Amino acid sequence: MQISQEMIKAINEQISHEASSANAYIAIGSWCERTGYDGSASFFLEQAAEEKEHMLKFIHYLNNAGYEAIIPAIEKPPGSFESLEASFRFGLDSERKVTKEIYELVDIAAKEKDYSTYTFLQWFVTEQTEEETLFQTILQKFELLGRDKLAIYQVDQSLSSIRSKVGGMQQN
Ligand code: FEO
Repeated sequence: MQISQEMIKAINEQISHEASSANAYIAIGSWCERTGYDGSASFFLEQAAEEKEHMLKFIHYLNNAGYEAIIPAIEKPPGSFESLEASFRFGLDSERKVTKEIYELVDIAAKEKDYSTYTFLQWFVTEQTEEETLFQTILQKFELLGRDKLAIYQVDQSLSSIRSKVGGMQQN
């Protein structure tokens, strides 16, 4: 299988983006844990594990095709947030950014008629739709329940089972 230099470079950049996402979600999970948001801490640490899986999918794809996946250095993520809602807003913005990045990869694959990479990327297209929906659903809870201490507690408590409720999450 032939992958162009442009595509290899773009996939390696995406490996870096996924690594940064994983690191950012660990940082948010850590902030949630020390702030007392236990449900959210579990949610973000699980989200970090998913991002690591995404990174590994790209790494395996390049390596198995006979190219070199580059393991990146990672910038320090934000260490604290002004509210629980702000941390989920950060998550949604981050997922929207990743969606754009995935679409750019799809554009390159389509332009180059690289159907192997194009097909490989379809899993990520679906995944990004699900992840954006998940974060939007959680942010909507703040609108529905409010933002006083009890409401925030309820949002936090609801997060341990949110993945099974926002249906249709695809398997890794
Ligand atoms: Fe791997 Fe949530 O983007």
